Amino acid sequence: MSNTFYAPGERRAAKVGDLFAAIARRYDLLNDLQSFGLHRLWKRHVVELAAAKSGGHALDLCCGTGDIAFALAKNGAETTGLDFSEKMLDVARTRLQNSKFKIHNLKFLQGDAQQVPFPDNSFDTVTVGYGLRNLTSWEKGLSEMIRVAKPGGRIVVLDFGKPENPLWRKIYFTHLKCSVPLIGLVFAGNPRAYAYILESLKHYPAQTIVAEKMRSLKLQNVRVINLLGGAMAINFGEK
Ligand SMILES: C[S@@+](CC[C@H](N)C(=O)[O-])C[C@H]1O[C@@H](n2cnc3c(N)ncnc32)[C@H](O)[C@@H]1O
Repeated sequence: MSNTFYAPGERRAAKVGDLFAAIARRYDLLNDLQSFGLHRLWKRHVVELAAAKSGGHALDLCCGTGDIAFALAKNGAETTGLDFSEKMLDVARTRLQNSKFKIHNLKFLQGDAQQVPFPDNSFDTVTVGYGLRNLTSWEKGLSEMIRVAKPGGRIVVLDFGKPENPLWRKIYFTHLKCSVPLIGLVFAGNPRAYAYILESLKHYPAQTIVAEKMRSLKLQNVRVINLLGGAMAINFGEK
């Protein structure tokens, strides 16, 4: 077995699929541990920017176990969470079934974020959390987000970032290289899956280039919101 979950080119998607199938049941716990619970705040920020509301339509790509999709639905929008991993979707659907609230405006769908199965101009808001970095082509994923957004619709991308301060960048990359795989080993028995975060980040251009790409694709009001000194970032734009 290869020593890494990162593979360039056409094998990338299969490897990423294997990775998330392997960690799906532990995914939520590990998110809390490796981010000290902070991912919840960052996702809340995404949902505020997405501004989904009753009567609107929201799409969350690479939805995983559904954190962002649940919050969009809670704000009243007809929401679809899309992911290609059945195992991650199983967790999301179980959460939906077990919810103490009756949630009628949320569904989870299997599909590829690089070939979104909706017509152009369908959604008021399109989000992705920790997803673009995992795609074979993040550019294709971004252009699909824009294609399915309505004119004026919001595009919100949350992912690991690359801090500009060299010292902070070193400390943070050391956390991703050492402590995060250790947490993966202890709590999921899978250090390789968590070492993948840093590997994939090295192949992802992160916030500044994503913002440039958004501008070149003619999005309006493009903004980067750096979190934790740029260790995390939200890219925002309007179609
Ligand atoms: C790191 S998880 C993020 C889950 C969730 N958005 C969150 O923030 O907790 C990345 C998700 O992207 C999904 N994914 C990766 N490549 C995909 C693709 N091409 N199409 C759809 N989903 C994909 C994985 O299955 C996984 O559930």
